[in-house]
Amino acid sequence: MSIIEKALEKNRSETSNTGSTVSRASTVNDRPIDADPGANKPEQPIDTTGGNGRFCNINLEALASKGIITPGSARTRIKEEFRLIKRPLLDKAFGAKSARGRKHKNVIMVTSATPGEGKTFNSVSLAISLADEQNHRVLLIDADVINPSVARTFGVDEDVGLVDYLSGDFADIADLLNQTNIEDLSFLQAGKRHHLTTELLASRQMAQLIDEISNRYPDRIIILDSPPLMHTSEASVLADLAGQVILVVAENDVKQSDVRKAIARLDNRTDIGMILNKSRYSENRYGYYYGYGENRE
Ligand SMILES: Nc1ncnc2c1ncn2[C@@H]1O[C@H](COP(=O)(O)OP(=O)(O)OP(=O)(O)O)[C@@H](O)[C@H]1O
Ligand SMILES: [Mg+2]
Repeated sequence: MSIIEKALEKNRSETSNTGSTVSRASTVNDRPIDADPGANKPEQPIDTTGGNGRFCNINLEALASKGIITPGSARTRIKEEFRLIKRPLLDKAFGAKSARGRKHKNVIMVTSATPGEGKTFNSVSLAISLADEQNHRVLLIDADVINPSVARTFGVDEDVGLVDYLSGDFADIADLLNQTNIEDLSFLQAGKRHHLTTELLASRQMAQLIDEISNRYPDRIIILDSPPLMHTSEASVLADLAGQVILVVAENDVKQSDVRKAIARLDNRTDIGMILNKSRYSENRYGYYYGYGENRE
């Protein structure tokens, strides 16, 4: 049985409570299923940690038109799915499971085997869903420096960001962080194009940056929207820095052999979460269960 078939097979059973996870994100045309109890969450102060006045006004209508969840929107199936997807991530970042193992458990890399499988869609949805959590702030970093698309997804102009910091144009990362109109969500753009992106991401500066944002803001979750693992070396470099890795697998678009090759690029990591994306599975067949960790060859 293939990895994906196994994953889907396991998806039919309900849960497991540790190790790698596989979850699913539906396609769009997501209808409200009932009123959202969290929609009337009381106003909280906007995240002012870091950032020296940069502000990014995310176009919520544009997000909604792409099927991406927005804060305070009605309770939809995809919103529910992200509630399930984020739970084990939060457990690993801050719960009992965070005590052992890798550093930077609050740094979550979102990648895929091949382009176009839904990394940005899932990074943004996850970031917004996590920002909706009480007590957690979220920093979304567009670390897909070769092909950045979070700004476009947010409906804002591209601007300075990660690469400008790594290439030494800005000394303080706080000068590049954007607060946003989504409470508790800040955003670091990819920044200018650079021909040595692998070198920049593999630099001591990048390692220090991840160390700093992971440790300086221990209540914060950092999401890295990343390049695909195949055809680029940048993604493997980022995977070394992240405490958690999510592999987005477009259920009907990617070859199983490419998924295997992508996993092989993650060295010996066994704690890889997987999101089955664009899944056309029937409504009641999703949940968490062991994923690639036990399926590696
Ligand atoms: N679960 C989903 N429901 C609806 N649309 C989706 C879903 N996942 C992805 N898409 C759409 O599919 C397209 C590709 O998704 P996305 O840009 O997130 O992929 P990507 O992996 O980030 O691509 P790239 O490798 O180019 O960065 C986009 O138009 C996105 O809105
Ligand atoms: Mg993308």
